Amino acid sequence: MKLDAKAIRYLTSEDFRVLQGVEAGSRNHEVVPTPLIAQLSGLRGGSGVHRAISNLAKTNLIAKVKNAKYDGYRLTYGGLDYLALNAHQKQKVVYSVGNQIGVGKESDIVVVAHGSGSQRILKIHRLGRISFRTVKTNRDYLRHRNTGSWMYMSRLAAMKEFAFMKALRENGFSVPEPIAQNRHTIVMSLIDAFPLRQIAKVPNPAGLYSELMDMIIELARFGLIHGDFNEFNILIKEIPIPSEKDKEAENAEAEEENYRLEPVLIDFPQMVSIDHVNAEMYFDRDVNCIKRYFQRKFHFVSDAPGPSFADAKKVFLKNPGKRLDVEVEASGFSRKMARDLENYMKEVGADGDAGERDNEDEEEDEDEEEGSGSDSEEVQEDEQPARADADVDESSKRLEGLQVSWSSAQ
Ligand SMILES: Nc1ncnc2c1ncn2[C@@H]1O[C@H](COP(=O)(O)OP(=O)(O)O)[C@@H](O)[C@H]1O
Ligand SMILES: [Mg+2]
Repeated sequence: MKLDAKAIRYLTSEDFRVLQGVEAGSRNHEVVPTPLIAQLSGLRGGSGVHRAISNLAKTNLIAKVKNAKYDGYRLTYGGLDYLALNAHQKQKVVYSVGNQIGVGKESDIVVVAHGSGSQRILKIHRLGRISFRTVKTNRDYLRHRNTGSWMYMSRLAAMKEFAFMKALRENGFSVPEPIAQNRHTIVMSLIDAFPLRQIAKVPNPAGLYSELMDMIIELARFGLIHGDFNEFNILIKEIPIPSEKDKEAENAEAEEENYRLEPVLIDFPQMVSIDHVNAEMYFDRDVNCIKRYFQRKFHFVSDAPGPSFADAKKVFLKNPGKRLDVEVEASGFSRKMARDLENYMKEVGADGDAGERDNEDEEEDEDEEEGSGSDSEEVQEDEQPARADADVDESSKRLEGLQVSWSSAQ
């Protein structure tokens, strides 16, 4: 499913209010009954509401669902995309939408432009998307989930990623600049670089390798483990070294060495604290991903063993940086949210890029279904226990520097 920005232009303000009504109703209704939509959208008179509903359904921003007791509608990913994009535009974070440059299992990556013309990245989290085209256990699991869990969890993933990116950036890590977060999306600076995965040759593998290991240790010093540290999530910037320029003409071989490679780390929804029960496993996995990749791709094997989790712990204890795991928690992405997100990701099989690598030889998947599970037979309960949406709204507001929050967009 792709971001479709075209439909946006044709919506009336009535359509928009009804869409917001469906969103609000989705918080505790799997299927939002039409009278509730009318009520939540604050529109008087039935015909306007019905016309808007029909417009929104035609453009796939909402979808009709029948269940045993009544007919109603649910918000689609397209509808949620629209609401988020609209908020970013209102806040002047995004002016126009360009090409989609990445389709991950759990996200879409789109180039957008700011009013000044400068390009940015819009990352749209799509947690739960994969589960609807995979195994039955996921279906069964999701059938019993609370309303809109895909929507809620994708939003938690965006909040988490934004909070960590911000904390890392402020503490000198090489990560994109986080610009804004709204619903299931974040806007960040565009890094003009390719993932390590696409770099055929590096002049000095040993140098890059040790820089990456230093990065893993530095993260640990701040109390963090990336959790998906691999060739897909490390962008490699080529920085020209001017002083070497003169030699270029004389020696074509040396040309490549006139660039310094600067790794930029991305993709943070699976970040864990160094105190996590499985911290050692995540740490070792990050280290081993890089080891394996350098060996396979660049035939480089380091003389130095490790680093081990014990090494990381030592650095952490002896020379602690600020604890960013604690800071992020305090900034609004609570421990409970982290736990909810982690459990959900585990249960729907959201395993980051590691899974992608395992599947890389498989054929392309056919078009995915809508992430919220469009089969009406899946909808069993209509009244859902209210989630802690108020808490999340509050936290969204507290995430320091957040330019757009859920509630301000209502
Ligand atoms: N800020 C950015 N600048 C440039 N490219 C990016 C940026 N963020 C993501 N990308 C590209 O999109 C891909 C997927 O992004 P990522 O955040 O890793 O999403 P996913 O969770 O789907 O793996 C990256 O491998 C990279 O090629
Ligand atoms: Mg990634």
